[in-house]
Amino acid sequence: MGLLIKNGRIVTADADYTADIWCEGETISKIERNLQPPPGAEVIDASGKFVFPGFIDPHTHIYLPFMGTFSKDTYETATVAALCGGTTTLIDFVIPGREEEPLKAFDLWRSKAEGIACSDYTFHMAVTRFDSQIASQLKEIVKAGVKSFKVFLAYKGALGIDDKELYETLKLARSLDVITTAHCENADVISELQAELVAAGRTGPENHYVSRPPLVEAEGTRHLCTMAELTGAKVYVVHLSCEEALREAVAAKLRGTDVQVETLIQYLLLDMSYAERPNFEGAKYVMSPPLRNKSNQAVLWAALKNGVISTLATDHAPFDTKQKLMGKDNFCLIPNGIPSLEERVKMLYTYGVAEGRLDLNRFVDVASTQAAKIFGLFPKKGTIQLGSDADLVVYDPKWHGTVSAKTHHMNLDYSAFEGFAVKGRCSAVTVRGKLQVKDGEFCGAKGIGQFLKRS
Ligand code: URP
Ligand code: ZN
Ligand code: ZN
Repeated sequence: MGLLIKNGRIVTADADYTADIWCEGETISKIERNLQPPPGAEVIDASGKFVFPGFIDPHTHIYLPFMGTFSKDTYETATVAALCGGTTTLIDFVIPGREEEPLKAFDLWRSKAEGIACSDYTFHMAVTRFDSQIASQLKEIVKAGVKSFKVFLAYKGALGIDDKELYETLKLARSLDVITTAHCENADVISELQAELVAAGRTGPENHYVSRPPLVEAEGTRHLCTMAELTGAKVYVVHLSCEEALREAVAAKLRGTDVQVETLIQYLLLDMSYAERPNFEGAKYVMSPPLRNKSNQAVLWAALKNGVISTLATDHAPFDTKQKLMGKDNFCLIPNGIPSLEERVKMLYTYGVAEGRLDLNRFVDVASTQAAKIFGLFPKKGTIQLGSDADLVVYDPKWHGTVSAKTHHMNLDYSAFEGFAVKGRCSAVTVRGKLQVKDGEFCGAKGIGQFLKRS
């Protein structure tokens, strides 16, 4: 058997050429012109189409116990949706409650995904409490191939850790050569602002962003970078949303801090006015950090283009309309999250590449290659070269359509991008040489996704 992809325009982070790709088993074994398929080989004609490396989403929450409920997707629904949108690898988060054991949580998250996920996956390990027992469990988890931690500077009293714990976590991360990803918002200030707003009778979803202004995120970002500087740890700011926070990360980079920045497709295309929609519609657009003033979008696009921001993720955290109603009398209780796992790549192509904001190489870089490099998956994932996994996306740029919850594959009753025009779709998506998507629809085998041990 084997799979031959013919005549595609192959685009990676640093190359752009036309050739055929021969996938023998799970890996790419030849890239040449005019390859002939051996008898029995599957052939995909990619003439007039792009062939990209499988895209990587470095920030998703598929299984997430959070704010008194659980995110809606399963590893099956989420990875089918991811694949239909061109994402072949996800990095999810193992998040134990503060009183829970990291090793038990790691087993739980793996049990949710194993034999169920249809794309490959790995995890960041959240540290929601720190002591010597936790530290020894974290070492075991790192040995098992989970080479990144996650800390929350927000979510006071739930997932957030204090400064002593943060300092100890970063010291451990440094000693294990592990990168620490972080949600950067000042939890105490948020609690105060929330209490003030609710006391003043301001309980609707449009108050969520008032309780988390840009300076709260900037302060959190500066705080993480200061702690990274003090410990020498490598850090990665997740879901950065605004210019104020970006300036703090850049200032830290200039001081020599090893800090990488991620932003989200939501922040590039949606703004705070969505959270002001009447009749509680705004709740669908409640996430943290919140959607910002539109003026931030040009800054984030520029930073993605010039490399100040390394990666584009989704922070996919799906809560349906009914779950959002948990906060109908108090915005602080609206489950935070805006789903976008399926839409990230095509929205980035449509509003980034097709509108001239990003070139094709940088598009691949921010949506695939950088995540692979930062999180220890490269060159198995994140590029098209001999020996890499045959995770390939044949993308047809001529196809035009519209985003709708009626046609998406996520287990959710709304789409944050409802009605947005889309240029292009995935004609074919392979995971380690197996055809999983054809003409934008899942056509493959369920449960073949593998847990990726990272180096
Ligand atoms: O609002 C968000 N971002 N929900 C998911 C949890 C997190 O903070 O990443
Ligand atoms: Zn977060
Ligand atoms: Zn998140």
